[in-house]
Amino acid sequence: MPFDQQTLEIYNGRSAEYAKWSKPVQPSKFLLRMIDMLPPNGTVLDFGCGAGWDAAAIRRAGFSVTAIDGSSGLVEEANRLHGIGAICITFDRFDMIGAFDGVWASFSLQHVPRESLPAVLKKINRALKPRGVLFAAMHAGKVTRRDSLGRLYCHQDMKELPYMLGKAGFSKPKIQIASGKGFDGTVAEHLYFEAAKRYDS
Ligand SMILES: C[S@@+](CC[C@H](N)C(=O)[O-])C[C@H]1O[C@@H](n2cnc3c(N)ncnc32)[C@H](O)[C@@H]1O
Repeated sequence: MPFDQQTLEIYNGRSAEYAKWSKPVQPSKFLLRMIDMLPPNGTVLDFGCGAGWDAAAIRRAGFSVTAIDGSSGLVEEANRLHGIGAICITFDRFDMIGAFDGVWASFSLQHVPRESLPAVLKKINRALKPRGVLFAAMHAGKVTRRDSLGRLYCHQDMKELPYMLGKAGFSKPKIQIASGKGFDGTVAEHLYFEAAKRYDS
């Protein structure tokens, strides 16, 4: 299964609620770090943009943003709230080549079925320009589970992730762990990682 329909339906059913909940109190330091690393007027892909708060912040910082998400409800919210022209497409159908200086994937990759993640990471790598960077956050650990809302979570192990990123054409990633609260109200360990497209990929 290239994507989890149930997870997307849950976001569709709660899109207005998720849009309110995900509004950042202040810009995330991780996002500011990516913005600092990008060339002026560069191009960014928000991969799983949700309600578009981060895509809008990236655009305000002077970048050209392409925002995609598989939930039609959240894409509607993103476009209603920010007018960012977000596109409804699932990750497995996304296919752009050499277009972006940066890819921002904030808490979207943990919903990709485990067996499909390597192919999705390759797609992200292909979408980057030479020396482009991926910044992503997802849930840490080894389990595959559904949360109390029914969303699929494929946690990623800090030791296995560098290997998977390497196979997808990325250089050695920088990884940090921090805990945070999710939309379902539970606290979990999160992985924040950044990796550059390798010159030979
Ligand atoms: C936890 S939300 C994060 C949204 C946003 N990046 C944020 O930080 O608020 C996860 C997002 O990933 C999207 N998503 C999950 N699986 C997807 C898939 N296979 N293809 C496209 N979007 C997907 C969901 O629709 C949802 O908007």
